[in-house]
Amino acid sequence: MSELNKIALKILSNSKGILAADESTGTMTKRLEAINVPSSSENRLLFRETLFSSDGMKNYIGGVILYDETIKQTSSSNKTIPELISSSGAVLGIKVDIGAKILAGSPEEKITEGLDGLRERLKEYYKFGARFTKWRGVYSISDKYPSKLSIFSNAHALARYSALVQECGMVPIVEPEILMDGSHSAEDCFEKTSEVIKKCFEELALHNIDLTGIILKPNMILPGNKSDKKISNDEVAKLTLKCLKENVPTDVPGVAFLSGGQTEVQATENLNLINKYNDTNFIMTYSYGRALQQSALKFWAKDIKDIKGTQEVFNHRANMCTLAAQGKWTRELEDK
Ligand code: G3H
Repeated sequence: MSELNKIALKILSNSKGILAADESTGTMTKRLEAINVPSSSENRLLFRETLFSSDGMKNYIGGVILYDETIKQTSSSNKTIPELISSSGAVLGIKVDIGAKILAGSPEEKITEGLDGLRERLKEYYKFGARFTKWRGVYSISDKYPSKLSIFSNAHALARYSALVQECGMVPIVEPEILMDGSHSAEDCFEKTSEVIKKCFEELALHNIDLTGIILKPNMILPGNKSDKKISNDEVAKLTLKCLKENVPTDVPGVAFLSGGQTEVQATENLNLINKYNDTNFIMTYSYGRALQQSALKFWAKDIKDIKGTQEVFNHRANMCTLAAQGKWTRELEDK
């Protein structure tokens, strides 16, 4: 077993999942402004350290993805954030892309940037204790998109990123995200997600990536949020599994889904069904941002000093997600 495979399994095993707390300062500012909390670096730290020091972390979270600001911060208990996360038993991860920018040649689409100087940044993050990383490519669906150019360019960037990350002894999360915005059908999402994932693995192969040392972070197969053709959760789970079975090489140890704008309960219920029907060898778990933090953030906004209460809300959410990663989640447990 390679060292990279060991790291990937440490993150994903025992039905644990990933807490994606890697919102950029811009995104976190929008989240905090929406709940009327000023977006100071102290407040961003306070919310995050509240989650990182919860019992939910020890019990349910195998890895945490941080943003550059957070990995360099020190918590109120005087532990650095990397120390706080390691003391919970979770593996430290870091977002290393610098965001999705306009794709020259197809300006209505996006290309993720951040390859220049990446090798040096990775070395610095490794010294901070990071052992896995995240890079997200984004694609929209419409009658003309995603274009071949965006599918190829983002796959190429994801592969170049993965090669640098593995060279540095860390596990890359490969995240090609088809956005939920739009009026496309679930069939369109299935078709485009399949094409995108297939191209990613072609490029990963070309870059000699050790597939046992990556984690795939895809979207689930869902109709667009403006589509009038809704499908059942059962169909979401079955289409998602079909897409992954057809396009993901079996060497990949696991899949950690993004929540992508689903509500907390939807993301949990769909993951639960995916695990109920999972007839693959892939570990199927979560790497949720909003679907792990939304309720906790809302609760915290009422009194940012109520650490215990906020942690209870987070613990419940993480518990539900971990149950879903075993196909053991139920509505009764959810509402308890
Ligand atoms: O890149 C996306 C995040 O890591 C996951 O966020 O679960 O809110 O879609 P989300």
